[in-house]
Amino acid sequence: MNRIVRPMHRYGDAEFDQDYLRWGFHDRPTQLKEAESVLKIAAGRTPLKILDLACGIGTHALCWARHGHAVTGVDISATFIAQANAAARDENIAASFVVADIRTLPYRHCFDLVCWIENSFFDAQMAAAIRGCLVPGGQFIMDVRNPDHERTRQRSSNWRTWREENGVYHLERHETDPATGLHEDVWITIDTVSGQIKEESSGKTRPLTLSDKIGLLKAAGFPDVQLRTMDGDIFQGGAEPYWLWLVAQ
Ligand SMILES: C[S@@+](CC[C@H](N)C(=O)[O-])C[C@H]1O[C@@H](n2cnc3c(N)ncnc32)[C@H](O)[C@@H]1O
Repeated sequence: MNRIVRPMHRYGDAEFDQDYLRWGFHDRPTQLKEAESVLKIAAGRTPLKILDLACGIGTHALCWARHGHAVTGVDISATFIAQANAAARDENIAASFVVADIRTLPYRHCFDLVCWIENSFFDAQMAAAIRGCLVPGGQFIMDVRNPDHERTRQRSSNWRTWREENGVYHLERHETDPATGLHEDVWITIDTVSGQIKEESSGKTRPLTLSDKIGLLKAAGFPDVQLRTMDGDIFQGGAEPYWLWLVAQ
């Protein structure tokens, strides 16, 4: 077999994004539950101007628009944005979906709420850019994993899986080395028809902890940072649930 090792695939690469459409996003009922949960947290502040960062195919933003909010979704993938715009057209929903890199957001103090669901890279620069998109008193919501759940249930972001499509095997490995704290994502495609193996790796990076993220948000000018559950309640601590909202205002 011919083996190709290459750098990690990128969102925005049409071939990767087409593949991601088949397996990458949370299923629609989960996405709609997430979207409704965000609205519970934002209750009392309606109608809102909402920015959906890395909006993917726009399921959350379209749900918010159905509730009467003015939504803008930005994503680096032209494939996903085309799908979001098509869904808005099919339902005759007014929503703005734009292809853009969220690391260079052009917005200044014009949104009441910024959401980032299934986020990946977060740093001081992103936290400051998000603060800059919001009106004074505006709110930012992102999903985070409950670190106590990971500790006590031994569930972690370490996982391996594989699937097969017409003789092509897709293998994934996502692992943090407990000794060094370094995380690596690896994708391997074994094409038994053409006899080719492709291997991509993210390289090893140190993921931010929950307290790192809270610290970055406070430093960016959000004095009030809370953890909330999917039901919208203030998180009281403990190992459950796995997914939480980090809410900054
Ligand atoms: C895991 S998906 C989540 C999508 C959506 N928020 C959801 O929950 O369904 C990550 C998304 O981030 C987008 N993305 C990755 N890097 C980006 C960037 N630099 N700027 C804008 N979008 C980006 C991808 O194209 C993809 O749609």
